[in-house]
Amino acid sequence: MEGEVLLRLSYTLDTIADAAKQFWQQLHGHRVFAFSGEMGAGKTTFIHYLCDYLQVQDAVSSPTFALINEYHFTDAGKDRTIYHLDWYRLRDTTEAINAGMEDCIITANTTPAICLIEWPEKAMELLPRQYLWISIGPISPSEREMTVKLVRTA
Ligand SMILES: Nc1ncnc2c1ncn2[C@@H]1O[C@H](COP(=O)(O)OP(=O)(O)OP(=O)(O)O)[C@@H](O)[C@H]1O
Ligand SMILES: [Mg+2]
Repeated sequence: MEGEVLLRLSYTLDTIADAAKQFWQQLHGHRVFAFSGEMGAGKTTFIHYLCDYLQVQDAVSSPTFALINEYHFTDAGKDRTIYHLDWYRLRDTTEAINAGMEDCIITANTTPAICLIEWPEKAMELLPRQYLWISIGPISPSEREMTVKLVRTA
């Protein structure tokens, strides 16, 4: 994915909480976060720790079956929504639209909500003009490397 590199992190499960904190401190101004990586790369695990850092009270789990999980957190005294989306089981953009994915992205671009998307490759056309592309890959069984790029499309 082409884009300006905003952040590079490597972490284990011992340091992932700190990685999540650094991630949010640096990237909290963004709304749409596309998490790319193979099965078991650690997308859901990272999102879980990010939600912990944001003090989300709702149960954070993989939305593989529900496709959309909604959580809430408080930011500067205001409620903000997190849409945790998993596009793995979607076949294409049409299915994604029918499942309500475009609505979540529009909401994230027009309200203080954010979208955290696993398997964004399944419906790339739904991504907005500007988003973060986050690739996660293994360095070793316990270590992951994350690269965050700012993608702007014409
Ligand atoms: N540094 C690490 N960061 C994240 N996960 C790790 C790390 N080290 C080991 N793991 C393990 O790797 C697995 C990652 O699974 P996870 O469900 O987060 O992957 P995923 O990318 O969401 O996969 P899927 O595409 O199936 O949704 C977990 O079992 C986790 O404990
Ligand atoms: Mg997952």
